[in-house]
Amino acid sequence: MLVFAKIKSIQEKLKSLKNGTTIGFVPTMGALHEGHLSLVEKAKKENDIVVVSIFVNPTQFDNIEDLINYPKNIDKDLSLLKSAHCDIVFTPTPEEIYANNIQSQSFDFDGLELQMEGKFREGHFNGVGTIVERFFEIVKPHKAYFGEKDFQQLQIVKKLVEKHKISTKIISCPIHREKDGLAMSSRNTRLTKEQRAAAPFIYETLNKAKIQFTTKNASEVSKWVENEFKNHPLFTLEYFEIADEETLLPVETKVSTKNYRAFIAIFAGKVRLIDNISL
Ligand code: PAJ
Repeated sequence: MLVFAKIKSIQEKLKSLKNGTTIGFVPTMGALHEGHLSLVEKAKKENDIVVVSIFVNPTQFDNIEDLINYPKNIDKDLSLLKSAHCDIVFTPTPEEIYANNIQSQSFDFDGLELQMEGKFREGHFNGVGTIVERFFEIVKPHKAYFGEKDFQQLQIVKKLVEKHKISTKIISCPIHREKDGLAMSSRNTRLTKEQRAAAPFIYETLNKAKIQFTTKNASEVSKWVENEFKNHPLFTLEYFEIADEETLLPVETKVSTKNYRAFIAIFAGKVRLIDNISL
């Protein structure tokens, strides 16, 4: 496994590959867990070589505390990637990526960026769009792998490649969960013991909401979810929304021809967790 921190060095290596070598790319912010590794495994199966980036992208954080406290463990990450037979790891510094202009470009994702995470994390998707486009320019992957854990991000990246006519194929990967149902996340390591023990409540609530949406409309289900969290001693609900998977617009009732998902964001103290479920 090769590790590069410089754009020039990774590009030289990628250029030296035999013509026709297919590249699968998995962008990450490190603090890797089995969820990330499931993307690497899928990429490994579907491509000749796999490139993983580890980069805590400053422009996608709206909260400086979250950026500073974002878990980092590069040695463990590299050893996990080696075990997963990753071929190339790209670990640039912010200066390497942004030079001395750590700023996002502005994107129009046809309104996908205005819903949910976009409402609560200002500038987040401009930051994601900026870094993903930059990485695609550097790595020029045939396929890139994104988790449904960040479903809105996945839809936005699909929109990015469509609108900017980028030839990379975006592959969506299912949510990897802990045995107790909690969606795997780098931020889970920041939970206290008590918060971690209570955290399956989030997915349990999503599952109950899914059942309710078979007989109730979205606002009734939302009210019920809000009530569940109102009395919770450890978690605060930021939003719960039932939306159309394609447009991410909120819906009220089901139409059988469309696909829906329920989305949730909660705070456990200062740690923000998100999850979603197909309905
Ligand atoms: P990060 O949170 O590290 O996630 C990297 C990729 O792993 C994303 O596509 C995410 O959806 C996926 N992922 C995370 N947890 C997962 C889980 N439990 N199951 C399945 N997939 C999971 O998302 C980012 O980084 C950044 O925004 C990035 C795309 C790298 C741009 O900076």
